[in-house]
Amino acid sequence: MHAFIFFILFFTSIFFETQASNEICKTKKCALGAPEIRFPFRVKGQQPENCGRPGFDLDCSNNTTTIHIPSYGDLVVKSISYDTKKLDLLDPKNCVHGVFLDLNLSLTPFQYYYVVKQYSYLNCSIELSKSFTEVPCLSGSGYHVYTVKPTVAVPISCRVVKTVPIPFEYNAYLADNSFGLGLTWNLLGHEDFHEAEAGSLQTKTEQETDCFTMAHVKVCITILIFVAAAVIIRVNMNQSRKLHYQKEGEDQIQVEKLLGEYRANKNDRYHEADLKQSNSQCETIMDIQIMKNQKVQV
Ligand SMILES: *[C@@H]1O[C@H](CO)[C@@H](O)[C@H](O)[C@H]1NC(C)=O
Ligand SMILES: *[C@@H]1O[C@H](CO)[C@@H](O)[C@H](O)[C@H]1NC(C)=O
Ligand SMILES: *[C@@H]1O[C@H](CO)[C@@H](O)[C@H](O)[C@H]1NC(C)=O
Ligand SMILES: *[C@@H]1O[C@H](CO)[C@@H](O)[C@H](O)[C@H]1NC(C)=O
Repeated sequence: MHAFIFFILFFTSIFFETQASNEICKTKKCALGAPEIRFPFRVKGQQPENCGRPGFDLDCSNNTTTIHIPSYGDLVVKSISYDTKKLDLLDPKNCVHGVFLDLNLSLTPFQYYYVVKQYSYLNCSIELSKSFTEVPCLSGSGYHVYTVKPTVAVPISCRVVKTVPIPFEYNAYLADNSFGLGLTWNLLGHEDFHEAEAGSLQTKTEQETDCFTMAHVKVCITILIFVAAAVIIRVNMNQSRKLHYQKEGEDQIQVEKLLGEYRANKNDRYHEADLKQSNSQCETIMDIQIMKNQKVQV
């Protein structure tokens, strides 16, 4: 008897867990037309940690998708390409070379999407010749900032702020506030590969067969709960029969007859083929569940 109650609770919990995790890890958007957020990214605070990978947390505030880079701060996510693994960012301060100067990707899962080269940032007290192009957003009154190749001899009026690997030196024609702020990511290692696979499988299942799958899971669970309930009723009736009159026995037969009719109806509605399909759908859900659990263990 207790075993059957456990049986019901177990399947009911799987039912709700499946439904819950499917909803929680669904593809998200911070606003209409904003980038799609799915594995390895997740929305921090809105989706559980296992929906994404560490370092891939995004934020949705003011209808804007942002990413927090620990050494730098918040950058706006313009687009995410999951096929090419490209994350296009925008600097809210409209100063791409300011980002290049301060961004340190070493503690993030990202690298520049473009090939990088070493450049030095010079901070000069006087303006240099026209062969150098000043970075307007980094310069102010009384000082002028330039990006130069590290091989350039540093003029006396200048000091080297930093030499960092960046995608390109400052160029007035490429002074777009997003150009160059493309990052790519790498999920290295066997485990990561499996996680990526699990993630994409999960997303695919959700996107393509969400309603379909959920409908079948509900049918599976309903049938299982119904069978369990029928067994419990029967056990109860068997116990009662020992203590009560024959009338009880008639009631039981009545109940069983009703149950039999109900089952027959159910079988009419869900033909064998459907049930088989439901079962395989259930197995898929179980597989995904198992993969998710493995993911959590890793
Ligand atoms: C949201 O927008 C308001 C007004 O534009 C601004 O004051 C606030 O700082 C923004 N918040 C974030 C988190 O960007
Ligand atoms: C976000 O967008 C919705 C719909 O366009 C709008 O109603 C809401 O006020 C916006 N919220 C913020 C914080 O800008
Ligand atoms: C980036 O951060 C790492 C670790 O904090 C540090 O070792 C490295 O020197 C930094 N790189 C730059 C270019 O500042
Ligand atoms: C350049 O120097 C000026 C004054 O010395 C300073 O205020 C400014 O922050 C410096 N800029 C950079 C990018 O180092």
